[in-house]
Amino acid sequence: MSSIGENGAEFLVVANRLPVDLERLPDGTQRWKHSPGGLVTALEPFLRTHKGAWVGWPGIADADVDAFEEDGLQLHPVMLSATEVADYYEGFSNGTLWPLYHDVVAPPAFHRTWWNAYVRVNQRFADVTAKVAAQGATVWVQDYQLQLVPAMLRELRPDLRIGFFLHIPFPPVELFMQLPWRTEIIRGLLGADLVGFHRPGGAQNFLWLARRLVGLEPSRGAVGVRTRPGVVQVGDRTVRVGAFPISIDSAGLDALARDKEVQKHAKQIREDLGNPKKILLGVDRLDYTKGIDVRLRALHELLADGRIDPSEVTMVQLATPSRERVEHYKKMRGEIEQAVGRINGEFSTVGHPVVHYLHQSVNRRELTAFMSAADVMVVTPVRDGMNLVCKEYVATRYDLGGALVLSEFAGAAAELTSAFLVNPHDLDGVKNALDAALTLDPAEGRRRMRALRRQVLTHDVDRWARSFLDALGTQSTI
Ligand code: ADP
Ligand code: F6P
Repeated sequence: MSSIGENGAEFLVVANRLPVDLERLPDGTQRWKHSPGGLVTALEPFLRTHKGAWVGWPGIADADVDAFEEDGLQLHPVMLSATEVADYYEGFSNGTLWPLYHDVVAPPAFHRTWWNAYVRVNQRFADVTAKVAAQGATVWVQDYQLQLVPAMLRELRPDLRIGFFLHIPFPPVELFMQLPWRTEIIRGLLGADLVGFHRPGGAQNFLWLARRLVGLEPSRGAVGVRTRPGVVQVGDRTVRVGAFPISIDSAGLDALARDKEVQKHAKQIREDLGNPKKILLGVDRLDYTKGIDVRLRALHELLADGRIDPSEVTMVQLATPSRERVEHYKKMRGEIEQAVGRINGEFSTVGHPVVHYLHQSVNRRELTAFMSAADVMVVTPVRDGMNLVCKEYVATRYDLGGALVLSEFAGAAAELTSAFLVNPHDLDGVKNALDAALTLDPAEGRRRMRALRRQVLTHDVDRWARSFLDALGTQSTI
């Protein structure tokens, strides 16, 4: 496919962040680095293969960067001022919508100044996209930061085919109804031709709200996974509403895990950790929805109960810094670092900490080596739209080794049913699952991992994107 037409791009992704983030170094120079988060992990390989265009924020305030091409991908930066970063990104996106859509696990704040910034920035994304899209192009708008863009873009460019995908959970209607700007958000999303969620429940909630808040008459049948989308008539347009569980570049990660150097690195990691009998691994953005505190509490109690021997088990927690100026994140970081300190203070010996905590992002190869070395991957979010980390772990375990402990409240739990599924609110349940995973019979472990891999390798990110674009009716052109 050639998506960059003479008169603009024929296939565009519009997301809050570009796939690369601009970093200003202390010596005043700048460099681009890989952006954090699951959205970029999932979409970047697909976009690079299909040579599309990407509209997004370069990740720092007041960065006035011209459009540029990187490895065949056209990048169109959208500038945000420092106030807009505070009000639109840290404020409305991550202080209002993020906690509201994640079951209010932290209280959302409702501020009119934040909302006004959200409207203004969404309009800017729509304006930039309208300028760079070719006649009749396909535009795929991503995630909760840009829910007003579909309707704004349709107003500017009715010729476009517009899809929207939400990467986080869509909340129960009782919670969504708390939002003072609930009708505006639903109307914004209805500007798309196809609105996609990870799970059918999100799609059903959205259809209910389209009836209740906008007075439309949506279809009443149950929405299926990748099948039977709901439909709602908006004037002379038909909007489809479906469920499309996102995934990863499974084959790419499987191949990377088989790389001899990566395997050597995995061995080195085990050695560096002092050759413990078992390695537990957590990999997350440092976010309060991820349940990092839950797994640390469970580990602490298992050690205190004498069910885990600290000389035999080591935990590695890799935590990417995230949204560091948002209040809930600051607080949670302090609590997690205190919990790590407490476990190490009580149970470590000199030279052998029980928990290795890295407040850092590691590169893809290193991450794959960590996953290859881990006997138990611990994924315990209190709410997560999908969670890609658990799928990544499964993709790296071509040896059928390892075990996955996974929260029922991650979207991935519906697919990865052979994991040790846990309710992260039930601490005894989490402890028992960790214990069972650590003492797993190898044959039973292989049976579980084989089933998990069957799911992850046959349902990759390409299949996700294709099923969405098929339903959008643009597959033949992309
Ligand atoms: P979210 O989108 O909420 O961050 P996901 O689990 O869907 O959560 O995606 C997170 C992505 O970020 C995954 O690809 C994961 O491998 C990557 N990631 C998370 N933490 C780290 C880390 N410390 N170092 C490198 N990559 C990380
Ligand atoms: O879907 C989860 C998500 O919020 C993405 O939208 C986002 O790009 C990623 O996590 C990382 O978060 P942030 O862009 O706020 O650093």
